[in-house]
Amino acid sequence: MKQQYNFEFEVYDDISQLSKEDASLLEEARKITQKAYAPYSNFLVGAAAMMNNGAKVFGTNQENASYPVGMCAERALLASAAMIQTDEPIKTMAISYNNLSGKGDSNHPVSPCGMCRQSLAEYEERMSQPMRLILSGMEGKVMILNRASQLLPLSFGSSDLK
Ligand code: THU
Repeated sequence: MKQQYNFEFEVYDDISQLSKEDASLLEEARKITQKAYAPYSNFLVGAAAMMNNGAKVFGTNQENASYPVGMCAERALLASAAMIQTDEPIKTMAISYNNLSGKGDSNHPVSPCGMCRQSLAEYEERMSQPMRLILSGMEGKVMILNRASQLLPLSFGSSDLK
């Protein structure tokens, strides 16, 4: 037997094609990259989330001289959300980055790293609600996914521990 995994996502030429609410969340993710602490990679990541109750929560990457200690923006946001807006589902998370390393551009979407995918998928499962993702750099194309867990097929989750 063969099985397939595929999913649809939207691609826009730029932020002007988004709804007002999505565009404003992406603007905030872009802006919050300024608060990243990324002196080692100079790759500044910003995330902004819209919760069900209308509250917004933010996260940026927080690096460390001991490199593996560093934290991605997405997981910083989720930790923040758990403290400030406990048990509140996230409707949409926008993720942006500003690559100041001089080695690349900031004009195309990048998607969350593997570790963040695992965290995002668990938050989604815990809240029993899909989390939309808006992915884009400081300018250019925007990708919108309907649920974060689509990025992690055949994932390991809480039910596997039962
Ligand atoms: N980073 C994030 O914050 N989120 C991602 O999805 C990808 C990578 C951070 C980790 C590190 O501080 C820097 O970007 C370069 O990898």
